Amino acid sequence: MKMCKDDAGASIAAALLAHYDAHARDLPWRISPAARQAGAVPDPYRVWLSEVMLQQTTVAAVTGYFERFTSRWPTVEALAAAADEEVLAAWAGLGYYARARNLIACARSVASDHAGRFPDSEAGLRALPGVGDYTAAAVAAIAFDRPAAVVDANVERVVARLFAIETPLPAARAEIRARTAQITPQERPGDFAQAMMDLGATLCTVRNPSCLLCPLASYCMARAAGIAESLPAKPPKKPRPQRNGTAFWIEQDGQVLLVQRPGKGMLGGMRALPDDGWSARRNGDAVPPVTGQWLTIDAAVSHIFTHFSLELALALYRGPQIDKVVIENLNGIWWPVEQIAEAGLPTLFAKAASAAIQHR
Ligand code: ADE
Repeated sequence: MKMCKDDAGASIAAALLAHYDAHARDLPWRISPAARQAGAVPDPYRVWLSEVMLQQTTVAAVTGYFERFTSRWPTVEALAAAADEEVLAAWAGLGYYARARNLIACARSVASDHAGRFPDSEAGLRALPGVGDYTAAAVAAIAFDRPAAVVDANVERVVARLFAIETPLPAARAEIRARTAQITPQERPGDFAQAMMDLGATLCTVRNPSCLLCPLASYCMARAAGIAESLPAKPPKKPRPQRNGTAFWIEQDGQVLLVQRPGKGMLGGMRALPDDGWSARRNGDAVPPVTGQWLTIDAAVSHIFTHFSLELALALYRGPQIDKVVIENLNGIWWPVEQIAEAGLPTLFAKAASAAIQHR
């Protein structure tokens, strides 16, 4: 049986797949190895959706979202036909909102340019809007059993350890990719990719890896050298800058003023409280959208983004009734405070809204 490009690689793949057959995690987007071998085929839509959701996000955080998305939009055509605001609101809380905008663009391209069928090759998938190298490889492998090298952070750790790659990330990536390609089998490459992810998530963990239980322990060069836990080496962390901003709570007649953020940029297209223009690069100007009396609560919310942390003050409007025309000029939407949980606010603004509700 031709498994992969060299014998050591073939033994690694065989040992990993045997372990996966016995221990695969049961995940809502996954076809179990037994079902797969009995002929069940994955739905590329579900595979693609799960892979987009799982980027930078844990399985535990994704599961509920995945189930809600697939019951509401069971096919790529259904998702393509949904209104942007509906999809963005359903995504609220998952973070990295550019993913949701790309998701919509990709679903529409598959529905209208590909008759609702995902391309079945890595290159074809990569050409879809918003689909990067990782997603193309993962969907090609998992949905179409193509022997693509699928490298996410978990796989990066497994492979860096297996081959004792001591070059720090990100410089090590090319070597890690080549090694992954070398051990990826021609048969069952989809299960192999998922088995590698499971291994990284459950045994080959960042801290305290469970080498005694690992099916690849006898092949692991880092384990032999006693350096498994120190790999992959990371460059020293840059300090995360802190930015300050203000969000504004304007409530009248049981309704709060929300805005839709511009399509591009941080939290683009999401519903939000009005704010003072803070960004990753600069503090907000603290200027409220309407003049009047405001009660300001400093540092009401702290939030960590990938490249900066934000201290958000909250200013509550305490002045007289505002003319609706003034509000219309702000492109605002009045939203019932009682139903704020359904507004689809991203986590930062959901935290600000609950702080405001406590102080109003
Ligand atoms: N992380 C990213 N993709 C995954 C998958 N298909 N299964 C489990 N964890 C993952």
